[in-house]
Amino acid sequence: MKAIQFDCTLNPSDFDTLVVPVYADGSSNAAAATYGVNGLIQALVEQKDFQPKVGHTLMLHTVANLNCPRLLLVGLGEAEKLTVKKYLDAVNATASALDHSGARHALITLNSEVPNAEDSVWALYHNTLQLQRSFYDYSHESRGDRPERDPVLTAVTFWAEDTPAHRDIITQAQATAFGMALTQDLANLPPNICTPQYLADTAVGLGQIYGFEVEVIEREEMERLGMGALLAVARGSEAPPKLISLRYNGAGDAPPIALVGKGVTFDSGGISLKPGAGMDEMKYDMAGAAAVLGTFKALGELKPKLNVVAVIPATENMPSGKAAKPGDVITSLSGQTIEILNTDAEGRLILCDALTWAQRQFKPAKIVDLATLTGACIIALGHHISGLMSNDKTLAETLQQTGEWTYDRLWRLPLSEEYDQQLKSNFADMANIGGRPAGTITAGQFLARFIEDNRPWAHLDIAGTAWLSGDKKGATGRPVPTLIAWLLSEAAT
Ligand code: BES
Ligand code: MN
Ligand code: ZN
Repeated sequence: MKAIQFDCTLNPSDFDTLVVPVYADGSSNAAAATYGVNGLIQALVEQKDFQPKVGHTLMLHTVANLNCPRLLLVGLGEAEKLTVKKYLDAVNATASALDHSGARHALITLNSEVPNAEDSVWALYHNTLQLQRSFYDYSHESRGDRPERDPVLTAVTFWAEDTPAHRDIITQAQATAFGMALTQDLANLPPNICTPQYLADTAVGLGQIYGFEVEVIEREEMERLGMGALLAVARGSEAPPKLISLRYNGAGDAPPIALVGKGVTFDSGGISLKPGAGMDEMKYDMAGAAAVLGTFKALGELKPKLNVVAVIPATENMPSGKAAKPGDVITSLSGQTIEILNTDAEGRLILCDALTWAQRQFKPAKIVDLATLTGACIIALGHHISGLMSNDKTLAETLQQTGEWTYDRLWRLPLSEEYDQQLKSNFADMANIGGRPAGTITAGQFLARFIEDNRPWAHLDIAGTAWLSGDKKGATGRPVPTLIAWLLSEAAT
């Protein structure tokens, strides 16, 4: 992905395209007044040459008395009705209109217009993120012979004061866009290419670029350590499982934050085989792992003052003569025994050993896991908001607020003893499924049993948000924006 050159100034020069907002009443902003185009805009709206609805844009060329060749009008609808969602739609429409033009250097002034009580920092974040992300292209060679994405736009100047806060947020947003691109690439890759080995190689590669300490634990070592739950899932696959860890050290010997990401590179369901329709999409069952790696890429770029460790259990979930069966009882790394009633509830099995490992190995102050864990989460929240479960009010609220700010949103679901009882087994400490009611929560309860010492922990179920089906089929890069923003806020305090 080509990087855009971003900057902020109130005295811009050299731009070839002026981008201004237009409201339903034909009004615009101070930049439009400065460049003497608000009379023209007002007239165009009155004559209905431009209907300034959200998502509408109009590119004008060689406007009289304007000292740049293009003027892009971006509809924002009625000022009182502008919401965050509408604003982001308008920013996306801007990116697309610029992309379909010869604009090389745009002066964007939409950042002056913010919905609700948001501020210029928020606006710069979202403008930068969406513009840079519009350059994303899944371009692995396996995609075949296709025209390369080659955007004309190279530079964007925002109509804003050049302050440290503005520079920092642009840097954050741009690193976020690149982190998301890595996350998307990994989840979009076919499962015969993006194997557990490929995830391990990606981690090692990031380590070489950014100086992370990377460790990869192989099957024999897992056996020696007693990771019975992770091994039970891996047993049916020919692809060797990997337990990958990365360490980013930016704050001496302070206890780290741990991120644990589900890395099932293909989930067939195992012996409890999934139906055939849409099974291909289960290549994205490693989206949690991909988001952790994307977040680490951004950490490597931004170098905040904090310590973060990543733990990624990576395996396929396949049926075979060696695969785990319904009824099998296994012993997890924690020592707790698990009756596998459904081999398709494999995510929690690999995560429980990874959670135990992360806590014992790194003694993290806080721990966040992210996983495409349950289809039930898609039923509950659809594709717009990730599920959030936590044993800690402050952590849950902080994550949720961060998600509102980035608009990579989370919604908290409860954890409670009644749900935990659904995991009762007559033959082991617990079963790996809790029945149909509250399937997302019982998965969270399962993981909660592996959190030691009441350590603040949050579980993000990203089954609905990490991937879109239909004509936009592909990975979204979520929840990288919220993870990065949250980690940076942890560094500041
Ligand atoms: N990876 C799936 C969850 C999933 C489903 C993610 C659809 C994205 C889209 C997970 O491993 C799974 O199969 N979960 C089961 C759990 C059930 C057996 C308790 C599910 O959701 O059906
Ligand atoms: Mn499954
Ligand atoms: Zn799965």
